[in-house]
Amino acid sequence: MTVHTHPTTPFDDQRPGTSGLRKAVTVFRQPNYLENFIQSVFDCVPELAGGLLVVGGDGRYYNVTAIQTLLKIAAANGVARAVVGRGGILSTPAASHLIRRRGAAGGFVLSASHNPGGPDGDFGIKFNGANGGPAPEALTEGFYARSRGIDRYHLLAAPDLDLRHDGEIRLGGMTVEIVDPVADYAALMDGIFDMPAIRRLFADGFRMVFDAMHAVTGPYAVAILEHRLGAAPGTVINRVPLEDFGGHHPDPNLVHAAELVARLSGPDAPDFGAASDGDGDRNMILGREFYVSPSDSLAVLAANAGHVPHFAGGLKGIARSMPTSQAADRVAAALGIPCYETPTGWKFFGSLLDAGRISLCGEESFGTGSDHVREKDGLWAVLMWLNVLAGRRLSVAGIVREHWRRFGRTFYGRHDYEAVETAGANALIAELRALLQQLPGCTLGGRRVLAADDFAYVDPVDGSRSERQGVRIVFEDGARIVYRLSGTGTAGATLRVYLERHRSDPADHDTEATVALAELAATAAELAGITRHTGRTVPDVVT
Ligand code: G1P
Ligand code: ZN
Repeated sequence: MTVHTHPTTPFDDQRPGTSGLRKAVTVFRQPNYLENFIQSVFDCVPELAGGLLVVGGDGRYYNVTAIQTLLKIAAANGVARAVVGRGGILSTPAASHLIRRRGAAGGFVLSASHNPGGPDGDFGIKFNGANGGPAPEALTEGFYARSRGIDRYHLLAAPDLDLRHDGEIRLGGMTVEIVDPVADYAALMDGIFDMPAIRRLFADGFRMVFDAMHAVTGPYAVAILEHRLGAAPGTVINRVPLEDFGGHHPDPNLVHAAELVARLSGPDAPDFGAASDGDGDRNMILGREFYVSPSDSLAVLAANAGHVPHFAGGLKGIARSMPTSQAADRVAAALGIPCYETPTGWKFFGSLLDAGRISLCGEESFGTGSDHVREKDGLWAVLMWLNVLAGRRLSVAGIVREHWRRFGRTFYGRHDYEAVETAGANALIAELRALLQQLPGCTLGGRRVLAADDFAYVDPVDGSRSERQGVRIVFEDGARIVYRLSGTGTAGATLRVYLERHRSDPADHDTEATVALAELAATAAELAGITRHTGRTVPDVVT
């Protein structure tokens, strides 16, 4: 087997977004496209030569093809050992754990998360560093800069490997170790949660449905929930990973997990429902006829963390992304621990987790996690809810309603306008930015503006600064409107509008969130001129 150095020419669109490089499969299939990006990473991370590399993906279309190419480039760039999930499968959190446990120099996670898959769907590739977390911005900007000047890549001329069986294979000077994708992750969960208490909960007749959405968590959820914890056979639905996720969006929200939502209503509904996304890092939590907003989920888990053995010593701190509701801040204040507000994207939590400043973190976009890995973790969140339910022996709704009585309810909603024209979306944000200075003191929709800014963040650990992370308008009554453009969409631009409002009186808590936020939504649409800039009168998705 020989190493070939192939001449190539750069593409100009390989800047990684919020979670790696994410494009349509058709874009990735252009000659040299994947090779250029992977080689750019190897050129920027010299520690990979002679080191250990973790590789796996969410099983979507193009996953195994891309892994074969990746392994040949890794071998040609001098990687000593590649640890690959059997069949090319690793959920994002399982990959993060494997990088940490095996002391890897880094890892590649092949996934476009919750975006649809298949030949006409999306694909993605993300590099995580030795801490198991997404590469920091300085590094991803380095990949991009390198990709713009690349003129060659190295590739080992070798036949494709059979990745279907555990064991070791030589590939040039590199050893490829194929491992069970679930085993290490399941062992990690055993060490975090009170598994005997959860087992007793199921033994006492507790029923749940977990929707794997034909994505990567199927095998993990079957092994942990059904085999280890004794949940009834059939608890995990849509459990077989499919290359196109059965034609659905593997995105756990009220729109895309409609089958699960339907199962949680009616007289015979189970006690608990949950779903995860394409690569297993997101979660949605449901009770019987009850939806837990992700912002509330973070706050409730923080307030109840004492039931979980891993957190027996108390929480060090909490972090939430800026657009996530301030419900967690109230819990942190009551616990006397810090609450950090970071820009959107999991990489900002990594530095706080590495420094031991926080134990729990979360985003409004169905992401929750802790210091056990450096990614958000869908199944972990489900197990944490199960541990809390086993400890409290209350219903999901009972726990959340009690939480609201204690801390007040923060009504929350996110409105997404998808695939809008990029020019219009950029103009909308630019006009808002130009307005910022004039807003404080103005009255909008009956509320006085207290402050308005374009969120900037200074990492308290390493001092790095991130600018222009979202336009934020805070009112005197604590309500907020936030506008930002997505960093993960693959068609046009996606405008996200985040709304929140706090009510302490329990008499107000039963209002529907959309009703409680209707006025604020109208104010947000008018202030930004959403219809004028995008031509849209209603959002595509409300969560
Ligand atoms: C979205 C979410 C964000 C999350 C990211 C990756 O990014 O909003 O919270 O970290 O996906 O899962 P966005 O498209 O908003 O940039
Ligand atoms: Zn994901």
